Amino acid sequence: MDTSKNLFPHQHFVDADLRRKLINQKPILIWLSGLSGSGKSTIANDLEKKLYENGFLSYLLDGDNIRIGLNKDLGFSDDDRKENIRRISEVSRLMLDAGLIVITAFISPFEEERDLAKSLVKKENYFLVHVDCSVEKCEERDVKGLYKKARMGEIKNFTGIDSPYEIPESPSMIVDTEKESVEQSVEKIYNAIKSKIK
Ligand code: ADX
Repeated sequence: MDTSKNLFPHQHFVDADLRRKLINQKPILIWLSGLSGSGKSTIANDLEKKLYENGFLSYLLDGDNIRIGLNKDLGFSDDDRKENIRRISEVSRLMLDAGLIVITAFISPFEEERDLAKSLVKKENYFLVHVDCSVEKCEERDVKGLYKKARMGEIKNFTGIDSPYEIPESPSMIVDTEKESVEQSVEKIYNAIKSKIK
């Protein structure tokens, strides 16, 4: 049932602009996309720490955390992954409206959903980072032991094994975690966004 014609969104007095001035920062969405084990969560965590140390108010949305709560009804079929990213995009939009610097760490394997996130927050507020690492290297790291399980058929639809990852066509930045240290990747991202958030 389409109820949208009976909805009348309010224009609130305290808007994004007022909030931005109050907390003296410009919101941005830093969207990290890459394979499981590529280093998204580690980079996101250190990046958030750096933002905090420099006086910025942020929020980190991470796949493994969000899938325990808000998205615990979703699995790893293509449709569920799309819904996962759609919800995260909407949550990010609200958080940006609240004035926060948002970092997301999701595999987000499909270009279409990453584009949706971009369109929801306006492209100037969207900074897509491809956390690049080959499947071979991620599998060698196998921090969570999931590649092993996927190879043994205990986990189905595992990204990079029997579920696709579409390489971002035009990311704002690529960090190569096979060649760069975590510190280098964080530094690169921070240096690229710092003029956009003040
Ligand atoms: S996404 O594809 O929908 O963006 P998301 O980032 O939320 O994925 O979740 C990925 C995390 O879920 C992985 O880091 C891993 O710990 C876990 N996981 C469990 N099953 C799978 C699977 N089939 N494919 C990928 N990741 C999985």
